[in-house]
Amino acid sequence: MMSLNNKTILLGITGGIAAYKSPELVRQLIKQGAVVKVVMTEAATHFVTPTTLQAVSGNPVYISQWDARISNGMPHIELSRDVDAILIAPASADFMAKLSLGLADDLLSTLCLARGHESNGMLTECPLLITPAMNRQMWEHVATQRSVARLVQDQIILLGPASGDQACGEVGMGRMLEPAEICEALIAFFQPKLLQGKKVLITAGPTYEAIDPVRGLTNRSSGKMGFAIARAALEAGATVHLIAGPVSLETPLAYSGKIFRTNVLSALDMQSAVMAHQDCDIFFSVAAVADWRASQMADQKIKKQHATDIPSFDVVQNPDILQGFAKNSINHHPFCVGFAAETENVVEYGKKKLMAKNIPLLIANHGPSTFGEDHNQITLIDAAGETHLGPADKLSLARDVIREVSKRL
Ligand code: CTP
Repeated sequence: MMSLNNKTILLGITGGIAAYKSPELVRQLIKQGAVVKVVMTEAATHFVTPTTLQAVSGNPVYISQWDARISNGMPHIELSRDVDAILIAPASADFMAKLSLGLADDLLSTLCLARGHESNGMLTECPLLITPAMNRQMWEHVATQRSVARLVQDQIILLGPASGDQACGEVGMGRMLEPAEICEALIAFFQPKLLQGKKVLITAGPTYEAIDPVRGLTNRSSGKMGFAIARAALEAGATVHLIAGPVSLETPLAYSGKIFRTNVLSALDMQSAVMAHQDCDIFFSVAAVADWRASQMADQKIKKQHATDIPSFDVVQNPDILQGFAKNSINHHPFCVGFAAETENVVEYGKKKLMAKNIPLLIANHGPSTFGEDHNQITLIDAAGETHLGPADKLSLARDVIREVSKRL
């Protein structure tokens, strides 16, 4: 799926060592469907060449405000009028200070001051996103923090910086986000803010019920759908608490500071984590919770000594986390969404679960054909009827689910 289709991005590159990542960023933006136009400061050309940026973007690169290639001689005006957003990556301390003061002494800074997006004869201010990148001392300096405060006040969106190893050998705050993270942040920026300010709770993945220290009962859920819902909810402006069973997935949009992840193993752990968030507005119970656990876990690995040794162990049923949550949150009424993985009679069983769990919306799918896959096909079941979505990739479906849920809130 290309999430930046029909978007034109003006990428501004300023003078910092992180500029070596800019060509990769251009490639990723183009891969998502964007048209990319590059404007560099003179300092940036010491770190990465305009020829490289022209080659990867497929468009001429601009550096000087005196560039004669723009026919009316006003590149600082013309270059931003048809773009959907200006992204400065990397944004140096010097450039941030200039922006915060409204200085305009080169093409990029003048262009940011004059930025405007023209659509249907209307001129509005073009969104400006910046990804700071600098040495940690520079980032922490009171002058830079003063710039940051002013930029935020001026509705300029800061992405990062991150903390970690720096090119200078020091470790700390000031690293530019990785190109993939910047690209995801920009995609998120363009999504409709349908859940702005909402608190969303999500369970994802399987649970693992230990039999002994090395074996257990679990299932084939990969967690991909739950994580896609988490990303789509963040994109829509929500704060997300993600409670994940044992999965090997990165936390989506982790840099945003709006996602809090708790890793759990068993259904009982998952239930305690869920119950700690009863103040949420929406609960997506996407996890494939193991229905049973061993009534007693063996302290040591169960050994097989003879060919005829077949161990036996009792199982007990796990609590139904979603059902319990929906019942206990009766005074507060978070909107609860269940996910049913079936092997047959998907819609019929889905309808039964909607009633049994006493929830307003249930999303049913065919488990074996989607576990671990990147695509899925789902049916939304509620009192009004059924809505079929897909087949589509899980992120597209997750965005559709967020849209459907926002309509029902
Ligand atoms: N669920 C839960 N706790 C459980 C079992 C299920 O919270 N112990 C939630 C799931 O997260 C999902 C919904 O209930 O949102 C349906 O899960 P599913 O496994 O499809 O159904 P079950 O209720 O377990 O019924 P069955 O296994 O008989 O199909």
